[in-house]
Parts: sequence; structure tokens; C-alpha cells
Amino acid sequence: MQITKGGYKVHPDCKRVLISENEIRAKVMELGRRISNDYAGKELLMVGILKGAMIFLADLVREISIPTQYDFMAVSSYGASSKSSGKVRILRDLPCGVAGRHIIIVEDIVDTGLTLNSLAKDLNSRDPASVKICTLLDKPSRRIEPVEIYYKGFVIPDEFVVGYGLDYSDRYRNLPCIMVLHPKVYMDKGE
Ligand code: IMP
Repeated sequence: MQITKGGYKVHPDCKRVLISENEIRAKVMELGRRISNDYAGKELLMVGILKGAMIFLADLVREISIPTQYDFMAVSSYGASSKSSGKVRILRDLPCGVAGRHIIIVEDIVDTGLTLNSLAKDLNSRDPASVKICTLLDKPSRRIEPVEIYYKGFVIPDEFVVGYGLDYSDRYRNLPCIMVLHPKVYMDKGE
């Protein structure tokens, strides 16, 4: 196993570490502080998109100092592919109503924008007080649908990344930082 300059172990299926644990930690703290200030005096409902945003959401809510609830939605994803199917379907909806509530959708990465464009429209149609989007990663070069991202962690280049919740074929989610997956992993599968 390769060790990077920062002492991070590079998974054998990955090319390099793109964002280290320390960089993620600092960014999550900064986002938590901003959200706490922006929503002071209000109550928040953070909506994490399964499964990728689970780790980010878990860290982020612990940096928020105002009354906050969280829940999860699941939408159809890429499955075992590294490319978007372009179809978004709600697989698990919120168990509670959102009318009159301040919502922050928490996502791991915005890529084509299809998922969040569609999800934000859906939640906005349920009469919430507000809906904003928070994403750890933004890959703007591949955008198809516009997405207004209010809280953004890192802008990244057009490379397929895994770790800190992000997967390829449901693997690598438990890597502690963001790594670039070696293209040979998905090229071998003809993608
Ligand atoms: P979008 O609808 O194309 O914006 O896709 C967003 C979803 O695609 C994310 O929630 C991820 O599940 C997945 N995705 C996009 N790019 C990557 C990547 O580089 N690594 C892992 N998952 C990704």
C-alpha cells in the first residue's frame, strides 16, 4: 500500500489522495459554523441523501450548534456504473412533512446536477419555509442541469472519486478521505 506525503494510505485501486482527512475536517467545521450563523433562531431539518452523504451528514450535524433534526432520502443512483443514468426516482421518502420547515439537502457530490435539480424541485413543491443545498464536493465540468449550491465544500476536477461515503459499485465508502479511483477499475467493466 502506497503512503502519501501527508501519511495517508492510498488504496491499491486508487491513484492518489485528492482531499485529506484534515482538509475534510476543517471544511466540515467551517460549513457547520456558517450554517449555525445563517440559521440562528431557527430550527433546521437536514436531509441526507443515502448512502453517499451519510458520513458527511454525521460529521456536519455535530458541528451545528442550533436546534437541528436530520433524516434521509434515497434516490435511484448510478448503481454499479461510473456514469449517470439521467433518471432520478425517489426510493425512500421523508417520513415527516416539510411544510413550513427550513430544509438543507445534504449531498456527497453534485456531478451532472440531475439528482439535486429534481430533488430540490420536489421538496420545494411541498411548501417548505426554505430549501438550500449543501454538498461536500462539486464537479462543475459535468453539469447538465443547473443547481444552486449554497454550501459547498470543494470543487474537484472531472475524475471519479471514492471514500468518505462515496462509492463505486458500493465499495470504498469507508475510506477516511477522498481518493481518485484508478480508471482501470471501471474500464475493466467496459465503462
Ligand atoms: P448527479 O445527479 O450526476 O449530480 O449525481 C450525483 C450522484 O452521482 C452522487 O450522489 C453520487 O452518488 C454519484 N457520483 C457522481 N460523481 C461521483 C464520483 O466521482 N464518485 C462517486 N459517486 C459519484
